[in-house]
Amino acid sequence: IRIAVLASGSGTNLQAMLDAVDAGLLRHGTVVLVVSDKHDVPALRRAKQKGITAVALDKKQLKTARFESELLDLLSAYRIDLVVLAGFLTILGGNVVRQYPERILNIHPSLIPSFCGKGYYGRRVHEAALARGVKLSGATVHIVSDEADAGPILAQRALQVQDDDTPESLGKRILETIEWKLLPETVEHYCQLLEHEMNLNTALQAQRY
Ligand code: GRF
Repeated sequence: IRIAVLASGSGTNLQAMLDAVDAGLLRHGTVVLVVSDKHDVPALRRAKQKGITAVALDKKQLKTARFESELLDLLSAYRIDLVVLAGFLTILGGNVVRQYPERILNIHPSLIPSFCGKGYYGRRVHEAALARGVKLSGATVHIVSDEADAGPILAQRALQVQDDDTPESLGKRILETIEWKLLPETVEHYCQLLEHEMNLNTALQAQRY
């Protein structure tokens, strides 16, 4: 399964996937393309270090329509089977999502349906969780639909919120103890499913002719 990872920032979830490939934990997929919506972000450097094509499509310069058409061109040029959003701050338009039905996954640092959707990103997610006084938070990997953070949930893991947590400490713990494991694991399972589906389709087609 040929994977494109879309990331806007530090790219530690991307790194976790690359490390999982090296460790043999992610075996049914390979990251062949990394795209960012900003120039010069660590995520792009992490990709280049591994010899993976890394492309910046500057959202501000390109405007939405061109950004999306250039992204779709890249995904098809690299024959991408699965897109993984790992800390990608642009919400993909319906146009992109419709071209890759059930082929785009996202990780969100809360227990969906809490603290998700438009406006809930980065530090704000954890601020909102602490302000509400929840005792559990965590991360969710889900399929992307045309509404932000609303697609089918594939995997979720929780941790205890501590009394002295700040948005930073909570975010860091969720990232390091949950996200770095949950994302590669879920992507591996999903790639296995996609591979079975593709093999089945090939077998069915062969019978028809
Ligand atoms: C993660 O918490 C992810 O869930 C969220 O943005 C953060 C990205 O971190 N969507 P990184 O770029 O993978 O280091």
